[in-house]
Amino acid sequence: MQITLETKPFATLETDALVSYLFEESDPVQGRIAELDQAAAGLLRKLVKSGEVTGKTLEFTLVHAPAGLKAARLLLVGAGKREQWNGATLRKIAGAALRYLKSRSVKNFAFLVREGDATEDAAQAIAEGAFVAAFETDKYKTDKKNDKSVDLVAVAGYSEAERAAGEKGLSKGRIIAEAQNFTRELVNEPSNKLTPTILAQKAEAMAKDAGLSVEILDEKKIADLKMGALLSVAQGSVEPPRMIVITYNPPNAKPGSPVIGLVGKAVTFDTGGISIKPADGMEKMKYDMAGGATMIGVMRALATLKPSVKVICVVPSTENMPGGRAQKPGDIQTAMSGKTIEVLNTDAEGRLILADGVHYAKQLGATHLIDAATLTGAIVVALAGINVGVFGSDQAFTDKLLASSKAAGEKMWQMPIDDDYREFIKGSFADIQNISSGKGGGAITGAMFIKEFAGDSPWIHLDIAGTAWNDDAKPWLAKGPTGVALRTLVHLVMSY
Ligand code: BES
Ligand code: ZN
Ligand code: ZN
Repeated sequence: MQITLETKPFATLETDALVSYLFEESDPVQGRIAELDQAAAGLLRKLVKSGEVTGKTLEFTLVHAPAGLKAARLLLVGAGKREQWNGATLRKIAGAALRYLKSRSVKNFAFLVREGDATEDAAQAIAEGAFVAAFETDKYKTDKKNDKSVDLVAVAGYSEAERAAGEKGLSKGRIIAEAQNFTRELVNEPSNKLTPTILAQKAEAMAKDAGLSVEILDEKKIADLKMGALLSVAQGSVEPPRMIVITYNPPNAKPGSPVIGLVGKAVTFDTGGISIKPADGMEKMKYDMAGGATMIGVMRALATLKPSVKVICVVPSTENMPGGRAQKPGDIQTAMSGKTIEVLNTDAEGRLILADGVHYAKQLGATHLIDAATLTGAIVVALAGINVGVFGSDQAFTDKLLASSKAAGEKMWQMPIDDDYREFIKGSFADIQNISSGKGGGAITGAMFIKEFAGDSPWIHLDIAGTAWNDDAKPWLAKGPTGVALRTLVHLVMSY
């Protein structure tokens, strides 16, 4: 798909569809919408008067052969209340418009921004919305004859003076959205097509392509480094584990500036191990590598966007299987840090592999740590599929991430992790245990466990169990992997 900036007057655009958006307000026919109305001989005012067009969020009105326009169609999208207008809504509208038109076999369209919206940020949001919306999860469907695709999006409403800003936004948006789709492709792979070995190969190929340093630790190296927590999860599977390490090291990094460590959980399939999961819904556990795939995708975007801070990405990858050699409830393991862990439930495996991942990232020189993981069912209970759960040990660092999440249009909600919760993981027979002995606060327990390995370094944990997989298609997003948190993390790193 191509995305270009178009500065020609909208009425002269020869396109399959001209798209614009209007607000839900007493008079929605204002500004550029009034100009459209004038060009189209009062058509928009008529539609508003009749009550057919109200401006309600994601209301679609398609007009064929609109008089006064060169476009074959006019698509009006409701943008909701003007007071609530922001980049996140613009991103959704652009994405939803693409999917609406694509489903009707439209091949190209022009997206006309409103007065005041001809900015770099808006162009970036439109590009992100369009590319993310264009992604489908049909890789393994053999019948492609009804496949539809949009080939060209022209972003219009910019003047020649605004062209440079607009084009910069489009190119940034494209880079970020393509990285997000790369992550989604990985998450979409079933576990028979994506073992830890294959994930490592794909990550290595991406890194080499992008000009990033990469090292893949195999099971022998993992054992040499005494990564006992990762090994304990891997021992039940015939598939060997991998530790994926990708480094972005800019020549212009200021001495003393932070080194960001991005650690992602990549369990390519989580059966629960000996604490086995129920069969119902277990197929979804192929997405249990989404945290790792997100971090690998972030690195792909950073390689092109070139921030001025060093970033180290560490992705522990394994299957969690109930094999003859699998670890058993009550087993005591020694993590790479030397801490001993009583494994009371083998299904709480994500925190085990992250323990070694976080410790290793610190050892490699990371000063600021962020982990992402499909860690707990409890975060789904707390926040559903709407917000990512955010846990942070340093409020200034966490505030920076939350600001990035707003800018990136990814909803995140901070959860508590004060010292009162430390008791939840206090061990009876080892230093710590991997689940709480009491009830409640399951997502917090998981976060507290990982925090043990971050030590005094500023650290953030993102629980994406509820948000990494979209159970039902949305107007702007296909069913399946979302690639959530990637845009936020790219924004955060770029803000240094
Ligand atoms: N991968 C799961 C988290 C998960 C569970 C995501 C359900 C989506 C839906 C994780 O490894 C896990 O199994 N966590 C357990 C922890 C429990 C044993 C303390 C959970 O949440 O049930
Ligand atoms: Zn599990
Ligand atoms: Zn898991």
